[in-house]
Amino acid sequence: MHKAPRGTFDILPQEYAYWKYIEEKATSLCQLYGYQPLSTPIFEDAQLFTKTVAGGTDIVDKEMYIFEDKSGQELALRAELTAPVCRAYLEHGLFNLVQPVKLYYIGPAFRYERPQFGRYRQHHQFGFEALGDADPALDAEVIEMAQQFFYSLGLSRFSIQLNSIGCKLCRPGYLEVLRQHYASYTDQLCPDCKARLVKNPLRLLDCKKTSCQEIAKTAPKIPDYLCPECQLHFQSVQKYLGAMSIPFQLNHRLVRGLDYYTRTVFEVEPRDKGGQSTLGGGGRYDNLIEELGGKPTPAVGFAAGLERIILNLKKQKLDIPALPKPDAFIAYLEEEAKIEAMKLASELRKAGITVITATGDKSLKGQMRQANSLGIAYALILGEQELSKRNVMLRDMRSGEQKTIPLAEIATRLLNDIKQPEQV
Ligand code: HAM
Repeated sequence: MHKAPRGTFDILPQEYAYWKYIEEKATSLCQLYGYQPLSTPIFEDAQLFTKTVAGGTDIVDKEMYIFEDKSGQELALRAELTAPVCRAYLEHGLFNLVQPVKLYYIGPAFRYERPQFGRYRQHHQFGFEALGDADPALDAEVIEMAQQFFYSLGLSRFSIQLNSIGCKLCRPGYLEVLRQHYASYTDQLCPDCKARLVKNPLRLLDCKKTSCQEIAKTAPKIPDYLCPECQLHFQSVQKYLGAMSIPFQLNHRLVRGLDYYTRTVFEVEPRDKGGQSTLGGGGRYDNLIEELGGKPTPAVGFAAGLERIILNLKKQKLDIPALPKPDAFIAYLEEEAKIEAMKLASELRKAGITVITATGDKSLKGQMRQANSLGIAYALILGEQELSKRNVMLRDMRSGEQKTIPLAEIATRLLNDIKQPEQV
């Protein structure tokens, strides 16, 4: 028996209500803030990620799905969507439009991680990116969007962690101080942190091992080493957030798992958090587009994991609107009625009524059981008697009440009775 690959799962119909709910909230949020949809391929040139996004981070070192296609080209399943968005921005000359260009996406990403609760090898992200503007007001707006997204889903038990990790000018000085701090603890570091000390010292602050966290506690704080421009930028972000009444917690050890960030970084953490719980994260990446071959183009964005959102919705037992059920089920007795049933179903669907028709040779009782199990409110029954008089039996599946209605009137009747006009 084949199974879905480790760390991946099928989304079954009963789960789909969650996905639809999140996608609808995400789309209306983006409309509200003036973001437009963008879809990029699931695989990209591997170098899009390996060269720019994450050299020295776990994502590239251990987690990328990289393969050669039949022509020998090295491709990668996308591990995240920010770099692909920047690639598309450059490829389609979106820098010629009025800046910032505001884009959003929903789609899968792939990371070869050790699967566990809330951490998968295929996960789905909803994200949004504002490209072409360094204004700290935009950082605040992106953070507000993230907050409003979770609120719109009914999730409010989270905190926003905020930090600034400086720029090309001030970060090297900080990294030097950080290395000096860690130099006296090398023996106590976990193997990953020993490698980080050489390759990517900023990530030392983010190690989850208790012994390494103790060392991180006394490490120098990056906000104390920001250049005056980065300091001003960080203060402005906080000023705007304050003005917009968005609560946040300064967290000088927040560094993020991808390499492209500059200045603002932030994460949304559920209050009752477990291991793999971060709901979403983002920040500024002012050098990425230039590293991909474009002109210097500041940008900021955010992405959230849909699977983790669903885990939180379930944990908080939030009511999610159910997927719509078909309006009617058509049952029949004998072949002649079946032909009429197929014809009727076709007519009703053309009139916009959602219909499921019985198939196979189930008894009427079996057909009613099928209608019940599908949760359909009305059954239309075509028997010999109904057919001879060009009628159909309309049965309310909840009350069991039945009425005989002329076939010619059933569409109008259903449209009037079942499809209530939308409330204004
Ligand atoms: P990220 O923090 O790596 O950021 O991923 C964003 C979110 O995707 C995470 O907060 C988490 O909810 C979810 N996620 C990540 N990996 C997994 C996994 N293995 N299983 C389940 N969920 C996962 C980015 O990817 C950046 N591109 C975000 C960004 C957009 N920064 C600026 N713009």
